[in-house]
Amino acid sequence: MVIILLGPPGVGKGTQAKCLSSDLGWAHVSTGDLLRAARREGTELGRKAQSYMDNGELVPDDLILDLVREHLAGLDDDRGILFDGFPRTTAQADGLEGVLSDVGRSVDAAVVFHAPEETLVKRLSGRRNCPECGALYNVHFSPPEEDGVCDRCGHDLSHRKDDDAETVRRRLEVYQEETAPLIRWYEEHEARQVLIEADRGVDEIQAELRTELGL
Ligand code: AP5
Repeated sequence: MVIILLGPPGVGKGTQAKCLSSDLGWAHVSTGDLLRAARREGTELGRKAQSYMDNGELVPDDLILDLVREHLAGLDDDRGILFDGFPRTTAQADGLEGVLSDVGRSVDAAVVFHAPEETLVKRLSGRRNCPECGALYNVHFSPPEEDGVCDRCGHDLSHRKDDDAETVRRRLEVYQEETAPLIRWYEEHEARQVLIEADRGVDEIQAELRTELGL
């Protein structure tokens, strides 16, 4: 199966994708994570993406589509795929259709997560992650045992630069302008849509997601 996870920043796409992919052995393709890895490695893509990401703007479609194409080429053909934070524009959705049809696949369902803006802002302001092992925390909802330190590997936790209040405001605007229209796009392309109310606990959302997707 190929599933895309759509929804505003902070709604919990990455959290749900991590649970589902580790349980099912599926590929979790997060363009945000791939871009952050490119920045850490200092690649040309990472350098080009930096200012867009730091300002809460979208990285240009051609760079994103090249990145996804290259990443998919390294995956097994029969593995389930969860796209998290991709596509984000109708041009990316068109591009994804082309890439998938080249390998005889298509999008099986678009999951649309929704939560009130105050929840999104609180989640993003409280988000902490471990740059070493990738563990995700939230100072409001799921804090580490020791402040600022990863429970799993003991590394110092970090706060994403684009989670500051001003950049979060811009990311939410960009979502409404560029990405929310994809909900309509997938309706018009007759893809199955699953709507998830995400202002609830992680486990409750995960259970509903799995029931809705029949997983
Ligand atoms: P990206 O990394 O994709 O960020 P995003 O879409 O803005 O999404 P987030 O990662 O902020 O939120 P999320 O929904 O995954 O929430 P999470 O699970 O982490 O993109 C970053 C930037 O890269 C973009 O701004 C853009 O510049 C660029 N980019 C990326 N992809 C691109 C593309 N396709 N095209 C162009 N540019 C692109 O959860 C958030 C917090 O809430 C965590 O602390 C978590 O622990 C907590 N939490 C989650 N669920 C719950 C819950 N149910 N209850 C309580 N707390 C919860």
